[in-house]
Amino acid sequence: MNKLDKKVVMITGAADGIGAAAGRALALAGATIVATDINLDGAKALAASLGNNAIAMSLDVCDENAWQSVINKVMQDFGKLDILVNNAGGAGAGTIEDISIADYRNAMRLNADSVFIGSKLAIEVMKGTGGNIINVASIHGIRAAAHAASYTAAKGAVRLLTKSVALHCAQHGYNIRCNSIHPGYVLTTQMLDWLDKQEDPAAAREQLVALHPIGYLAEPEDIANGILFLASEDSRFMTGSELVMDGGFELV
Ligand SMILES: NC(=O)c1ccc[n+]([C@@H]2O[C@H](COP(=O)([O-])OP(=O)(O)OC[C@H]3O[C@@H](n4cnc5c(N)ncnc54)[C@H](O)[C@@H]3O)[C@@H](O)[C@H]2O)c1
Repeated sequence: MNKLDKKVVMITGAADGIGAAAGRALALAGATIVATDINLDGAKALAASLGNNAIAMSLDVCDENAWQSVINKVMQDFGKLDILVNNAGGAGAGTIEDISIADYRNAMRLNADSVFIGSKLAIEVMKGTGGNIINVASIHGIRAAAHAASYTAAKGAVRLLTKSVALHCAQHGYNIRCNSIHPGYVLTTQMLDWLDKQEDPAAAREQLVALHPIGYLAEPEDIANGILFLASEDSRFMTGSELVMDGGFELV
C-alpha cells in the first residue's frame, strides 16, 4: 500500500518547479493529483505525464472566484479534497526604498492572500472528513532579505497564518493539519532564467551557493520530498510546524 493511496491532492502552481516535482512525488506515492496553474498547458503536460490519476485545471491563485470554482469542481469530480498544497508564488526583488506600494500589494496577493483564500475554502470542505494543508513559504519567511522586502513580508505572513490555521483546526477538532515548508534557493526554471540573465552567471551561482553552508543549491525534488513527508502520515504529529529545507542557510 502506497503512502497516499486514495488521497485527492490539489497543488497550485503545478506546471513547473517545486509544484510539478511535488505532483510527481505525490502521484508516485499513490495520490490522485489535481494540478492547477495559471499556465493551463503546463498543468496539462504534468497531468498527462502522471497518467490516469491526474487532472489539470486553470487557476490564478489571486482570483477568489476561480478558487471557489476549482474547489467546487474537485468536490463534484472526486467527492473530497484530502490535501491542499499552496505552492504558487514568486519572488519579487526590491528593497523597501525601491518598491512601490503597488508592487508590495501584488507580492502579498500572490504569496500570502492566495494562501489565506485557499486555506479558508479548503477548510470548508475538509472539516467533515479531515485534511491536510501544506504551505510552501521560503527561508525568507524566517530570515529577512533586504533585497526582497515584499517577498519577505509575504512569506513571513504565510509562516504565521499556517500556525493560526493549525491552531484553529486543532481547537475545533477538525482533524486538519497545517504546516509550512521553508526552502533555501532551489534550481527551478525561474532561478535558472535569472542566473542566465546575470553578467557572469557562474559567479552569480557561486554567490548563491555560498549562502548555503551545505555547498550546493536544492533541486525541486528535494523540496518535493519534504512536501511528501508533510502530506503523509509519517508527519501525523506535526501541525503548525515549519519544515526548514535550506542547506543550512538559516545558520549563518
Ligand atoms: N525557487 C526557489 O528558490 C524558491 C525558494 C523558496 C521558496 N520558493 C517558493 O516555492 C514556490 C514555487 O516556486 P518555484 O521556484 O517552483 O517557481 P516556478 O517559477 O518554477 O513555478 C511557479 C509556478 O507557479 C505558477 N504561477 C505563477 N503565478 C501564478 C498564479 N497567480 N496563480 C497560479 N499559478 C501561478 C507558474 O505558472 C509556475 O508554473 C513559490 O511559492 C516560491 O516562492 C521558491
